[in-house]
Amino acid sequence: MSTNKYELVNLDTGKKSTLQAMSGTVGPDCLGIAPLAKDHGIFTFDPGFMATASCESKITYIDGDAGVLLYRGYPIDQLATKSSFLEVSYLLINGELPGAKQLEQFDHSIRYHTMINESLLRFFNGFHYNAHPMAMVSAVVSSMAAFYHDSMDNNNPRHREIFAHRILAKMPTISAAAYKHMLGQPFVYPRNDQDYCANILRMFFAVPAEDYAVDPVTAQALDLLLILHADHEQNASTSTVRLAGSTGTNPYAAISAGVSALWGPAHGGANEAVLAMLEDIGTVDNIPKFLERVKDKDGHTRLMGFGHRVYKNFDPRAKIIRDMCHKVLARLGRTDNPLFELALRLEEIALKDEYFIARKLYPNVDFYSGLIYSALGIPRSMFTVMFAIARTAGWVAHWQEMIGDPAMKIGRPRQLYTGPTARDYVEIGKR
Ligand code: CMC
Repeated sequence: MSTNKYELVNLDTGKKSTLQAMSGTVGPDCLGIAPLAKDHGIFTFDPGFMATASCESKITYIDGDAGVLLYRGYPIDQLATKSSFLEVSYLLINGELPGAKQLEQFDHSIRYHTMINESLLRFFNGFHYNAHPMAMVSAVVSSMAAFYHDSMDNNNPRHREIFAHRILAKMPTISAAAYKHMLGQPFVYPRNDQDYCANILRMFFAVPAEDYAVDPVTAQALDLLLILHADHEQNASTSTVRLAGSTGTNPYAAISAGVSALWGPAHGGANEAVLAMLEDIGTVDNIPKFLERVKDKDGHTRLMGFGHRVYKNFDPRAKIIRDMCHKVLARLGRTDNPLFELALRLEEIALKDEYFIARKLYPNVDFYSGLIYSALGIPRSMFTVMFAIARTAGWVAHWQEMIGDPAMKIGRPRQLYTGPTARDYVEIGKR
């Protein structure tokens, strides 16, 4: 705890309060503001949570100015090069890297929870073939609560653990079912002899009519993408999971709320929007004209995949993904990818442009992720679903951290009311 104390004086009444600063292990101090409401009857006003820490957490740390991202203290670049998505999920959820035996047990449990109830699978037939997969995933994840009454006591640590394994294991199966439904192809069941990413690729791309061999380069690239997207502290979807979860609702409902929040183009939907933008720009010659549109104060065009609420420097994940994009395209023999060339030039031009320099706008994780997903054969409408598969690890870790905290309170923000003051009801004939 910081020893810094801040004295607040109401200049009208002369009433004083002492606000105590709290220190984390790294990062800026936070001011405990509870006395403001108690002593002075005032609230703080911070739309978009620009300067508000909504909770205490030990999971992920970001230094936006330095471009640092740590999961449980481990730098993202080390995890990206040395770890695997399942190991990272274990780390995020349990706080420590697993030993060999622990990892084996975790991996085994995830492999053996991949199937979904056949009734749940039949839900997909209720969706139109062109339903957005995020709509299907969100609905089906929420519906999981109808299947596991026997293990949904939020106060029971074993139930929480079973939930964590179930949702991590079944998210790819649900996502693949959504994809197959869109294609009109038969659902491909998961196989327990396949690892996490190989299973995803099989369920997405295999068809009963022929054999399917998982390409190890593709599986490795996918694993890396999942690591990079696994958590990002109190982003919009994670905060949504926490807020929904703080009511004591079941965890499937909370994760489903997170999926819905992730869908928006300012958040997880950006990877889909980046490809649409690149296709819209078309050629390098059109970049200046496009950037003029972005800079037009009266317009609504943004350079998608650029800018971040926290990073005011390079998003460390964007650097890793850009390097990986080079490698993946080379190894898949697709070096002459015009959209990748366009993205590289767009980044180069934007980074030299005063508009982006002044606002500290750099490429974020989504600027290149869609290009890799495309190279891996994953269609654009599934990009945000891939993000959701990865972020499930983070959502679960945050839900577990919050539910396991004895000091947990329902999230209930206040407001600055600017509507009408009290007035009498007017009968309809007199309005
Ligand atoms: N293109 C053009 N201008 C931008 C952009 C952009 N991508 N991002 C921010 N700005 C401008 C914005 O117009 C504003 O300018 P001014 O001060 O003249 O009004 C200034 O920069 C500050 O922007 P802001 O909207 O107040 O910043 P924010 O922290 O609220 O928004 C953001 C962060 C990520 C929503 C925003 O940068 C954005 O919309 N980026 C494009 C969408 C995107 O790539 N999202 C993925 C984020 S990373 C993955 C994830 O979180 O899921």
